[in-house]
Amino acid sequence: MKTTISQVSKYVGQEVVIGAWLANKRSSGKIAFLQLRDGSGFIQGVVVKEEVGEEIFQKAKSITQETSLYVTGIVREDERSPFGYELTVTNVDVISESVDFPITPKQHGTDFLMDNRHLWLRSKRQHAVMKIRNEIIRATYEFFHENGFTKVDPPILTGSAPEGTTELFATKYFDEDAYLSQSGQLYMEAAAMALGKVFSFGPTFRAEKSKTRRHLIEFWMIEPEMAFCDHEENLVVQENYVSYLVQSVLKNCKLELTTLGRDISKLENIQAPFPRITYDDAIKFLHEKGFDDIEWGDDFGAPHETAIAESFDKPVFITHYPTKIKAFYMKPDPKRDDVVLCADLIAPEGYGEIIGGSQRIDDFALLEERYKEHDLTSDAYKWYLELRKYGSVPHSGFGLGLERTVAWISGVEHVRETIPFPRLLNRLYP
Ligand code: 4AD
Ligand code: MG
Repeated sequence: MKTTISQVSKYVGQEVVIGAWLANKRSSGKIAFLQLRDGSGFIQGVVVKEEVGEEIFQKAKSITQETSLYVTGIVREDERSPFGYELTVTNVDVISESVDFPITPKQHGTDFLMDNRHLWLRSKRQHAVMKIRNEIIRATYEFFHENGFTKVDPPILTGSAPEGTTELFATKYFDEDAYLSQSGQLYMEAAAMALGKVFSFGPTFRAEKSKTRRHLIEFWMIEPEMAFCDHEENLVVQENYVSYLVQSVLKNCKLELTTLGRDISKLENIQAPFPRITYDDAIKFLHEKGFDDIEWGDDFGAPHETAIAESFDKPVFITHYPTKIKAFYMKPDPKRDDVVLCADLIAPEGYGEIIGGSQRIDDFALLEERYKEHDLTSDAYKWYLELRKYGSVPHSGFGLGLERTVAWISGVEHVRETIPFPRLLNRLYP
């Protein structure tokens, strides 16, 4: 029976054929252990000379790393392996040889691994991270569909820049100037006025000259937007969504979390509600902790966010940031207009901001005033203002960065390992 590694539990005691690659091997005079992978999982194949005979044993022993094979064997339960099964090999057919595979089981430097990303993806660790990423994507669709949201796809080529004009990838759109999308938010607001509760999931681009463990040039963002939703209600959706992601990974990616050596006790605790702290209180807290470098009106850097996050064992919302350091579309607090109705969600364990969100300005005159202050005079923003002209409603939304979320839940230090082919400062290859 031809099957995949992920399905072997159905065939205990039976002979199966699996298309696989050789990930690694060990052998002695009488027995060879083949570490096999087929994309669906990893399994150990055991080749015993006495059982298969000299010819097959010698063939199995000489297979090189990443050679592709059809392996025939009998499925056995194996309590010693985290996977729970192994294969007693009866035959091996080589499909295509692999000579001098560059990524060997020894340690390699980061640059080398990044240059070989197209091959590095085959490793057990990268496989585990990609499976967790996939689970987070699956759970995202499930969460929003179960909660009455409609998926809407905003354009990638745009004429507008919601998050400021300094980090744009500019291109030509025939004779017009165009940009790669930094965020689909403005379009999602239009969509929310048509469909109520919407979410997008797509690539976004920031020409940021940042070289940190949290920054990618191209990253994927999930952007929900909700009509008739205020700041407080927005936070409840966020904490429920993030809890759902963590609990889904815990339930469906046990093996991957084990492969990565993730401390699961830190994730089990991630259940809504999450703590909230205002920007004002965060500044006071930082001063108490001895951060003299920051004053009211400054944006937080990574060390500030980490210090705040460290005093909680769940993600924490920092709310009500100063108006002047946040985007033009955020609604001012009706009680004081020097702060806006917004929140950043800071992940635990130093992973930083995973969500930015806010209630949006719904008043035509105020938004028009902001346009002037932010010099958004181009026609590209005309349609966005019109949304406030025809039945404007309170509405809110947020953006969750997929790669930072994958990094945190997987316990992987750097976002470069959380996306198949990372686009980083000075890296477009492979
Ligand atoms: O805080 P940001 O810039 O918010 C927005 O773009 C809003 N328009 C979203 C919305 O309200 N619809 O980005 C949102 C999230 C951040 O919290 C972070 O997780 C991620 O996107 N992010 C990045 N991830 C990787 N590399 C970068 N350079 C990122 N910039 C933002
Ligand atoms: Mg932000």
